[in-house]
Amino acid sequence: MRRFLNKVFKHTTKSSQFGAPTLPSDLSFSELTYMTKRGFLAGKLSQYLSMKREEGSSLFYQSLARTTFKKSKIENDHERLLQLSEQMLEWGKQNENIPEKIKKLDVKDDIQNAMLKAYDMFEKDLFLSGDVILDENSEVSAKHNEKPDPTWLVYREVIFAATQGQFLLISEEEVTTYKAGNVLYEGWIKERSDIPTCRNQAKEIFEQKEFNKAKVMSWLLVLSEAITNTIKHAEEGKMTLIEDGEKKEMRFVIEDKGPGFSLEELPKTTLLAGYSTKKSMGQGFSLMMKMSKQVLLYTSPVGSTVILTFDCSQEIEGKVVS
Ligand SMILES: Nc1ncnc2c1ncn2[C@@H]1O[C@H](COP(=O)(O)OP(=O)(O)O)[C@@H](O)[C@H]1O
Ligand SMILES: [Mg+2]
Repeated sequence: MRRFLNKVFKHTTKSSQFGAPTLPSDLSFSELTYMTKRGFLAGKLSQYLSMKREEGSSLFYQSLARTTFKKSKIENDHERLLQLSEQMLEWGKQNENIPEKIKKLDVKDDIQNAMLKAYDMFEKDLFLSGDVILDENSEVSAKHNEKPDPTWLVYREVIFAATQGQFLLISEEEVTTYKAGNVLYEGWIKERSDIPTCRNQAKEIFEQKEFNKAKVMSWLLVLSEAITNTIKHAEEGKMTLIEDGEKKEMRFVIEDKGPGFSLEELPKTTLLAGYSTKKSMGQGFSLMMKMSKQVLLYTSPVGSTVILTFDCSQEIEGKVVS
């Protein structure tokens, strides 16, 4: 298994220790989406078969490592699950009656039942109308009173799984819960000079709190990335530093009134280091994922909120001791 994982992560940077794989950049988006759906489905099958959680994540990566499992000689249970998932997606594309097809398969009862259950649970998101997940017209549900769009929910779950919980798409309502806490600083982001201003203000606050210097450096680095994105991709915004004593974490909340992230591009933005719509470095999100506990994103056509969370339990406990 280790050898296999090494193979999957052959091209990865250090950020992959958090589980964000670096994929070959010559993949087309529809291929990536297909592989993502297949990995998601295989993960669900493993869950219904009571396999370990880690196996679900591992299946996800294995799916991202290969375009097809169809002709491969099946070496193990994982490949079998990926092949069956691929089969289910193919049936969906061909408008076949999927439950009927599953029942005719020569596989063990538990596998058959897992497939039927997965079909039942994700019929709408994965199998109907071919490419729901690829629907170019679907927009991230902007208003909190709107029922979340199923496409959005699939993206949320898929990206969360693929990044092992490091990246989470959140709703407007959830933003409010992350904004709760002790506000230590609020600053506007309107021009380039606001980047060092916000960074220095945050730095001073952390210095007063006597937080670990190296840690603070890394927090400030990714704060800069997020603020730079506001200016580069969204015009103006606001940054808030929040202390959450209960969760023992610090949060940078960066809100903007920009055009929002494209949902279709998100898997690339979050999973592929070096991907950028502006053909620049595209390392911003890789860094954010590497340095922070979690990256949260609410995005709508009228603005986005990026929230970076940092664990400061050690700092707080350190204080109690000394
Ligand atoms: N505030 C934002 N609003 C809309 N889109 C954004 C925002 N921040 C980042 N993005 C999108 O995410 C992509 C990746 O961002 P990042 O990793 O920082 O790379 P870069 O800034 O070099 O393009 C950007 O190219 C852009 O398409
Ligand atoms: Mg950037």
